[in-house]
Amino acid sequence: MSVIKSKYLRQYKVIALFLFSFLIAKFSDAQSANNIDDIIAKLTLEEKVGQMTQINLEVVLKKENGAIVYPIEIDTTKLQEAILRYKVGSFLNNGRMAHSREEWLRVISAIQVVAAKTDAQIPVLYGIDAIHGANYTSGSTLFPHQLAQAATWNPSLVKRIAEITAYESRSSMIPWVFSPIVDVGRQPLWSQFFETYGEDVLLTSIMGAAAVRGYQGEDLSADTSVAACVKHFMGYSNPFSGKDRTPVYMDERQLRETYLPPFQKAIDQGVRSLIVNSGELNGIPCHANDFLLNGLLRDELGFEGVVLSDWGDIERLATVHRVAENRKDAARIAINAGIDISMVPNDFVFCENLVDLVKRGEVSEARIDESVRRILQLKQDLGLFEDATAIVENAESRFGSNAHRQVAYQMASEAITLLKNEGQTLPLSKEQKIAVIGPAANSLAYLNGPWSRTWQGNDEMIEEESAQTIFKAIQSQSKQSQYLLGCNSDSLVNISRALKVANNSDVIVLCIGEKPSAEKPGDIDDLTISEAEEKLAQAMIATGKPVVLVLVEGRPRIVSSFADRCDAVLLVYQPGNAGGAATADVLFGKVNPSGHLPFTYPRNVNDLLTYDHKKSEEVDKHYGSSGYNPQWSFGEGLSFTQFEYSDFKMSSDSLRTSSTLNVEVKVLNSGVKKGKDVIQLYATDEVASITPPVKRLIAFDKVELEAGQTKTVSFRVSSEDLSFMSAQLKRVTEEGWFTFTIENLEQRVYFTP
Ligand code: BGC
Repeated sequence: MSVIKSKYLRQYKVIALFLFSFLIAKFSDAQSANNIDDIIAKLTLEEKVGQMTQINLEVVLKKENGAIVYPIEIDTTKLQEAILRYKVGSFLNNGRMAHSREEWLRVISAIQVVAAKTDAQIPVLYGIDAIHGANYTSGSTLFPHQLAQAATWNPSLVKRIAEITAYESRSSMIPWVFSPIVDVGRQPLWSQFFETYGEDVLLTSIMGAAAVRGYQGEDLSADTSVAACVKHFMGYSNPFSGKDRTPVYMDERQLRETYLPPFQKAIDQGVRSLIVNSGELNGIPCHANDFLLNGLLRDELGFEGVVLSDWGDIERLATVHRVAENRKDAARIAINAGIDISMVPNDFVFCENLVDLVKRGEVSEARIDESVRRILQLKQDLGLFEDATAIVENAESRFGSNAHRQVAYQMASEAITLLKNEGQTLPLSKEQKIAVIGPAANSLAYLNGPWSRTWQGNDEMIEEESAQTIFKAIQSQSKQSQYLLGCNSDSLVNISRALKVANNSDVIVLCIGEKPSAEKPGDIDDLTISEAEEKLAQAMIATGKPVVLVLVEGRPRIVSSFADRCDAVLLVYQPGNAGGAATADVLFGKVNPSGHLPFTYPRNVNDLLTYDHKKSEEVDKHYGSSGYNPQWSFGEGLSFTQFEYSDFKMSSDSLRTSSTLNVEVKVLNSGVKKGKDVIQLYATDEVASITPPVKRLIAFDKVELEAGQTKTVSFRVSSEDLSFMSAQLKRVTEEGWFTFTIENLEQRVYFTP
């Protein structure tokens, strides 16, 4: 940072502190002693509706010729229109790029200054997509995306990164994050697959709950806490077409069996807000779904937090879904269905419409009060009434610190999943001549994926001082390495030069996958890896040199035409800024890989079965198709050491409703290297009234063992763990035999209710 800039910042901080102290007095005198109902009693209808309105920051930013001016500055007239005229109570988003902490403090405190001037004196609630760290604040720690986080099978680490993200968001004066996604990722075509914790219900539920605990902490008003927001309620992740924001067809039983539990778990953890699914479920858009929002979410699950619409999705009830005549009709339907805040986001039409709807009696004021109560409660619990512009103490030293980056590195190194290692190709020796080839080899954008400083995250120009690409990290350990692009994600370039480097090497590290994209821009028609990358891979294999395939991707792109001919395969997902260093450390054996697939990696584009498929989906193979034959299975992940299991024991061979079983297994590290292993316990319901899946994950644990060390790992299993959703929509455990497996070890237990 230049001297001039830091001097400016110091001056700014003094001015800002003066402003902040003025603000603290304003909000606290007026409101902090009041209870929520007293505040509501004094609000006008317009003020209440304003609380239910969320506006894109861009709307109140200065622009020249329609383009945002950077560094961002508030357009005072626009801000006054938003807050003084329309009484807007919430803002989101970032004005299309990341900003420094100082910029965020300046902009958000300017917004709060205006809010403090209103009659109502209610602080504004700022929310942001902190998807893998406080990604819209420059210099923040960028963690691996959720899919990679799930590959660690380590919920404590997930909780830890949520804590850091909370801290770094609060340091940017942002108390609310739109994370985690707890949609279960069972449709790999879906462009938000990378944002999920993978295909398993239990793994998603455990990781989602850990993230919620990490974000919200013990005290929501603390420097280290933000309100979490689980999304997208519900069924969003399994669109029939595979395209984002498109229809989902699913019976209620399946919805409750697979998609509901992670939301339930997050609600049990006290999650304070939730975003609604942008799409439609069985023909009813979720934003208009009274059964889903009022019935299931509020009445049955007992959710008391804030329900937020997704981006522009109330308006889309009219413009896209065609279940509403116009925007006013859409607002009527959505608010009556139970939405508390409309992420409008780009104009104030919603405010005018909702005020009018209440005046006409089409939405009751009691319904409005219900939402406002929840919103104000959240603002109060976040400590905003006391001090909406609180500055996190000593944030300079902890924000984006080495200690935080070390956690990102640990997460990336625990996520990286070794899927193949023939003839012990890995670890590489630093003496080898290494050709590092491919579009993902020298790119921070590939490593970080979307939601990295910008929404799509595809801008290589963004400076990340301490981050290394895969090639840079390899080069820093082995001077004999050379890099060549080989191809872009969709076009072949300089292949002859890449071949020359490859032919002159001892080993090729081929880094391909998928360039970043999120949501609609990430829609694809074919899961197959791009033609250019496939050609590059074939050319590299044809050199006869050992090929280490490094897949940098957020969904499984099909690689079956060449993966079997690669000598080693590493899936690194989108591991974030520390991912280059972590990948190099795995390649050279400094880190022993311990990631395990949180999804099934398909072999064929039309063969998208999950591990917990039905038996009937396997028997197909008698008729010529491959049945269930993925490229790599859910839960798979190799190590540079070997683990052996023995003494698999159950405390009894029978189980009753109120009792539990103790399950034990001995794990031996029989190799010569220290390593971490994930012990996965599966159960199969042998006969059930709803066709049972071939197996289901029941419990897991991750342990670290020295070479030669043995540990006994134990789990407790209850009859609830063996239950499923019946045809009558009740969770039941039916009498009969269950087979438990850990790898190839097996035990049977008879359950009697
Ligand atoms: C996405 C959400 C996100 C929201 C706000 C929507 O398009 O579906 O996941 O939180 O935008 O940016």
